[in-house]
Amino acid sequence: MTTTLWRGARLVTLADARGWGLVERGALLVDGATIAWAGAEADLPPSARADAEIDLGGALVTPGLVDCHTHLVYAGQRAGEFEQRLEGASYEDIARAGGGIRSTVAATRAASDATLFAMARERALALMGEGVTTLEIKSGYGLSAEHEARCLRVARRLGSELPLDVRTTCLSAHALPPEYAGRADEYIDAVCAWLPALHAEGLVDAVDAFCERIAFSVAQTRRVFEAARSLGLPVKLHAEQLSDSGGAALAAEFGALSCEHLEHLSDAGVAAMARARSVAVLLPGAYYFLRETQAPPVAALRAAGVPIAIATDHNPGSSPTLSPLLMLSMACTLFRLTPEEALRGMTVHAARALGLRDRGTLAAGQRADFAAWDVAHPNELAYWFGRNPCVRVIAGGVERPA
Ligand code: NIG
Ligand code: FE
Repeated sequence: MTTTLWRGARLVTLADARGWGLVERGALLVDGATIAWAGAEADLPPSARADAEIDLGGALVTPGLVDCHTHLVYAGQRAGEFEQRLEGASYEDIARAGGGIRSTVAATRAASDATLFAMARERALALMGEGVTTLEIKSGYGLSAEHEARCLRVARRLGSELPLDVRTTCLSAHALPPEYAGRADEYIDAVCAWLPALHAEGLVDAVDAFCERIAFSVAQTRRVFEAARSLGLPVKLHAEQLSDSGGAALAAEFGALSCEHLEHLSDAGVAAMARARSVAVLLPGAYYFLRETQAPPVAALRAAGVPIAIATDHNPGSSPTLSPLLMLSMACTLFRLTPEEALRGMTVHAARALGLRDRGTLAAGQRADFAAWDVAHPNELAYWFGRNPCVRVIAGGVERPA
């Protein structure tokens, strides 16, 4: 295994529960895909041997970004709906009229595997260009056994062809496909029936659902979660995005890794998430793009000790962004997170939202996932918007090709 010494770095380790964990004149000794040692260069053990040395010239180095909530695999776009919404239609109106998620389902089903892969690859490369080293990708635009499997295979292929770790989430309970109109319970039966085959093919790391008045009820979501539990799969939930449906409490009952969106989360929902140690994944891109006015209850989440993660929620309907850095900025300006909370939210807490403990900080034993930035202080990662100061990205010890 090749050992590389990355030196001349100003490390932002995030290794303690609070503080940036700044190490001036720092170094990382990377053995294969793992950080063997992290600290000040002056403290490097004399026994440390490296096959290669790379000087980062004083760049700031953070853990690689973890985008823990995306819907990256789909065809088409929905700019027309954006215009309709600006003229007064609501996201829910458009969904009820058969547009919204269902229009992306039609475009996705009609696209070839090669087209889906090429489009998703471009999007993944854009995210990687801003420091992303771990990417969660949900299905949910196929909505049949065949098309959900196709989308999840495309996601897996991205992870095998790019220097990027891809985690897949089955979100078949995203919307009711047209062929099941008026038969939501039967559709949920079908989802529960095809989940074992997707899992057996190695396509599913977690199971998600959209629990909302325009999507699935708490009772229907419960059935999906029971199917996940019987397969030993962890669950997460799109909860309380447009209304308080009580989804977070249900997810907590199933020990959910995370609940996501959460603009309408109640105090009882916060308490349930704290008890279950679920991560709150906040999605400022969707909040911004849907021009929501009720922000998630950040102060209550903080007070209850619920870890907060931030993600792009990249999707064509509610968050067509490919900028994780812009999400850090928006997490601060729209949700009032501190820059440190925002960066933790897209590193260590985002990793927890995926059930991963081997990444998100710079410390011995963690995966060698890190990004180098042309900034003087880590608070600048949330400060600039529309500027990308990322200079190098290393995932599992492998550098992203320039
Ligand atoms: O996370 N909330 C549900 N799902 C997506 C939106 C999907 C779409 O509109 O295509 C979200 O916001
Ligand atoms: Fe989403």
